[in-house]
Order: sequence, then C-alpha cells, then structure tokens
Amino acid sequence: MAARGNWNTKLGFVLAAAGSAVGLGNIWAFPTNVAQNGGAAFVVIYILCCFLVGYPLMVAELLIGRRTGKNPVGAFRALSRNPLAPLIGFWGVLCGVMILTFYVVLAGLTAAYIFEEICYFAGYSDLANFFAATGDGGHKNAVFSIFFMAMTILIVVGGVSGGIERATKTLMPMLIVILVLMIVYVVFQPGSGDGLREYLRPDFSRVDTNLVLSAMGQAFFSLSLGMGALITYGSYLRRDQNIAGAAAYVTVADFSIAFLAGLLIIPAMYVAQAQGIEIFDGGTLKSSTTLVFDVLPNLFHSLGGLFGFLGGVLFFLLLSIAALTSTISLLEVPVSYLIDEHSVSRRKAALAIGSVAALFSLVVAYDLSWVDTLFNIFGTIGLPLGGLMICLFLGWVWKTEQALAELEEGAPGIRNSVLGRSWAVFVRYICPVLILIVFVTSVRPLIGLWVW
Ligand code: TRP
Repeated sequence: MAARGNWNTKLGFVLAAAGSAVGLGNIWAFPTNVAQNGGAAFVVIYILCCFLVGYPLMVAELLIGRRTGKNPVGAFRALSRNPLAPLIGFWGVLCGVMILTFYVVLAGLTAAYIFEEICYFAGYSDLANFFAATGDGGHKNAVFSIFFMAMTILIVVGGVSGGIERATKTLMPMLIVILVLMIVYVVFQPGSGDGLREYLRPDFSRVDTNLVLSAMGQAFFSLSLGMGALITYGSYLRRDQNIAGAAAYVTVADFSIAFLAGLLIIPAMYVAQAQGIEIFDGGTLKSSTTLVFDVLPNLFHSLGGLFGFLGGVLFFLLLSIAALTSTISLLEVPVSYLIDEHSVSRRKAALAIGSVAALFSLVVAYDLSWVDTLFNIFGTIGLPLGGLMICLFLGWVWKTEQALAELEEGAPGIRNSVLGRSWAVFVRYICPVLILIVFVTSVRPLIGLWVW
C-alpha cells in the first residue's frame, strides 16, 4: 500500500470535513427533530450540545487521528496497550456501516426528487408521482439507493480527489443561497408566522429528557462525531494545520446550515398546512421520515414557473451532492480500517463494505420505518456512546497532556491559552458527565425504574 494520502491543501481538509458534516442531517433530520420535539426549545438545547459537547469532541477525534495516522481501530490500539481500547474503534465502524444503510436510502429519495421536479414542471404528473412515491415506492427506492451507493463506492475507490474538494467549495455557498432565497419567499406566505414563532420562541416547559437525548444525538449525527469519521479524516491531516481553528469552522458552518434549513422548513410546514396539506395528526407528525420530502416539493410547486422549476431541481441536486460528501465519509471509516488492519486494497475494501451495506439498505428501501429505528439506535444512542468512550479514552488513558502537545502543532501557544485549557477540562470532565447525565436520565425509563 502506498503511503497514506494527505489532503492537498489546508482548505481541502476543512472542506472535506464540512462536506462530511453538512448533509441530510442538517436538512432532513434537524428540521424533523425540531418539529417533533418542542420547536425552539429543541433548537436551544441543540446549540448547547453542538458547542459544549460536539466541538471539544471534534477536536479530540482529529487529534487522535493526526497523532496516530490510523483508522479508528488502529488508532486506539496505537495509543493504549489495553486490549479493550480498539473496541471503541470497532463500535464506530459498526455504527458507520449501519448509518450508511439508511442514509443511502434517504439520499436516494433526495436524488429521485430531482426527477420528480423535472417531470412535474414538464407536465408529466404521473411520472412525477412515481419519483415522489415513498412508502409504496419500494422498487424505485431500491434502485436509487443502489445507484447512490455505487457513486459513493466510486469516489471512495478513487480517494477523495481534488475534484470533490473543489466542488464542495462552490456547491455549499450555492446551497446556502437557495436556502436563503426560499426562506424569504416562505416568510411572505400565509401561515408562516405560526411556524416562525414555533421555531424562534422557546417554550422551555417542553424540555424533557427525551428532547435532550434527541438533541444530543442529532448534534453528534450532524457533526459526524462519535464513530471515528473525524479520526479517519484527521489521519490524513498535515501537522501544520490548526485543528482547533478548523474544528471551529466546521462546527459553525454545520450549525448555520442546519439553522437555515429549520428556518425554511418549519415555517414551510405551517404554510403547507394553511394550504390544506395534513402535517400533524393529533399533535404528532403524520410522517416523521418523509416530512421534509412532503413539504419541500409542495413549496417549489406553489412557487411555480421558472423559479419554482430552477429552485426545485437545483435544491434537490445540491442536497444530493451534500449527501454524497457525507456518505463518502461514512464509507471511508470501515474502508480505512480494512486497508490498514487487514491489508486489503482500497478498491476491494470499498466494494466489499459498500455491497454489504447496499444489501442491508434494500431492507430499508422497502420498509422506510427502519429509518427511524436505525437512526435512534445508531445515531441518537450509538454516536453519543462512542463519543463518551472517546472522551474518556483521551482524558484518562491517552491523557490530555499528550493531546495538548498535539494540539500545539499548527497552533503554537494554544496549550496555555484559555481555549486550550478549557478544552482539556471539557474533554476530561464536562463532556463525559453531560453525556452520562443525558444517558442515565433518558435511558432509565426505558430499562425500568426498578434499577433505581
Ligand atoms: N453528518 C452527516 C449529515 O449531517 C452524516 C454523517 C456523515 C455522519 N458522516 C458521519 C454521521 C459520521 C455520523 C458519523 O448528514
């Protein structure tokens, strides 16, 4: 195997990490979670989770990756002789594969909507309905999922090329422009006021343990944390890169895009409702899996004309590309594991894991209720669990002193700065305690009160 690849430029890494972060998590999962879990109150808790737990953990993962230059399993093995340590990496690899199985199905739905928009505006409404079908569109879902997985495999086989690095640079601003334009349009539609209120005026009486667990899981999912994706990306990182700065950029960018998506979709839900489309069924969402796919096309259709057409096609195209830069990072983790630890070629590794995940994804394609189940187990619970283990490992096994020395590289003087010192306290104490509190309080009802 040739030497491990490196990102070509400093910016290349930030773009790839931002590309991994920004995806369906921001535009599909975040607004859906907000709609399901108490509106603005969820948003506030989510911000806290991103910056108090997510950011320190992102720095931690990148440091472990760059120090060891390895995949998650190899990285923990390199830093500790404890035979249990690599299990943290294995857990990450498992979560990655399982997240990938439902992620490609949703990404496939997104790609299908590009065709739906084209057909709708061209006047072929039967064909448009075919591409829009969700629950009863099993064959279509399966074909699009496999197509999406094939694209992911192709890119991972080629290594994350300069093309992807460069493409992300122009595509993400474009996505933001469309989001902002659509927000402006939606805000002037009847019904949007209720949505804005729901999204921006917190009612903290709606905060409960479930909400906090969902917000934490959502933050981990959206920032791509807890399963070693950023350990892997960090392993390709040059030593002159300022990790604390890059992670801050990625966290802020990811949060901002999620926030914008919510600002579009929550009001748009209420606009759709004012137009007679049923969104809620007695207070709960009628469809949590496909809410966003019900609301958004409705918006483009109601806009109509050239703008509706361009907006619809471009939006789903950009969202598909954002999803692709995320599936790449999900597949890259198990692939880098096979390459490093079992000397498998990149091509074989990507094909093998990609095919297995594609097979599993067929189950999801034919029964979309699996999306919620898999998201809850491997996203909402699995990722924070992985994050907890990574914090504890870094803080108590590898020790923050060593990590701070690594943080210095590319950011001289940071270890004695307020940021450096508080980062160490967060990873050692605050993050694990916060994650544990959330787990204990929200999982307790699930396993029965008799334990307490
Ligand atoms: N962050 C991506 C999104 O928001 C999903 C994702 C990509 C991810 N890679 C990951 C989630 C690694 C967890 C771990 O759509």
